[in-house]
Amino acid sequence: MPLRAIAFDAYGTLFDVFSIGSLAEELFPGQGARIAMVWRDKQIEYTRVRTLCDRYADFWQVTQDALDYTCDLLGQSLTAADKARLMGQYARLAAFPEVVGVLQRLKAAALPMAILSNGTPAMLDQAVGAAGLGGVFDHILSADAVRRFKTAPEAYRMGPDTFGCPAGEILFVSCNGWDICGATWFGYRTFWLNRHGLPAERLGVTPDRTGTSLAEVADFALSLRDQAAQVG
Ligand code: LAC
Repeated sequence: MPLRAIAFDAYGTLFDVFSIGSLAEELFPGQGARIAMVWRDKQIEYTRVRTLCDRYADFWQVTQDALDYTCDLLGQSLTAADKARLMGQYARLAAFPEVVGVLQRLKAAALPMAILSNGTPAMLDQAVGAAGLGGVFDHILSADAVRRFKTAPEAYRMGPDTFGCPAGEILFVSCNGWDICGATWFGYRTFWLNRHGLPAERLGVTPDRTGTSLAEVADFALSLRDQAAQVG
């Protein structure tokens, strides 16, 4: 099967969410790492509960709710100003160091690219702009359009619908093991960007490829495309 496009998850895959933990540490010394971890887990949990029960609220709202919960759990009082700073950090996330160069390489190779994320369009536009990635993506696909978060099939379906080809002709790239499982089940080819050396999810899914940097994603994607071109 030819490879026609790549779809990337956003947070943690392209955009480095580390700065959120550093700011949390500055605001709540000694608790930053714990806050960042509970916040992220709760954020993802809320996306699942809302999608499973058809109670959509957008990712910006879910992220705020998860932050409120996290501070309550850890006994930290969160001022409106600190909440605004923590939430505002999502708009200023840096891309991982290799991202701009690798995406430019893929762009030069004329492989169409999209972001496919749970983030709202506004959050994603801001992050793309702040990271200097304006003009790189052909499409920015937000779960907001279908009001269901990944791993719902409706969210993954935006990829093939937008690129006009089967999911099996698109490489989906994510740092999240659960996202890779959802995308593989949906029918994408998948690259698990395991930046943090995490164990494989026990969900009976093997990604097509696993690696630790985006440069490996580009090598894999271009080799798939070139193999298909030779066979064709
Ligand atoms: C996203 C999060 C879940 O970008 O990483 O969809």
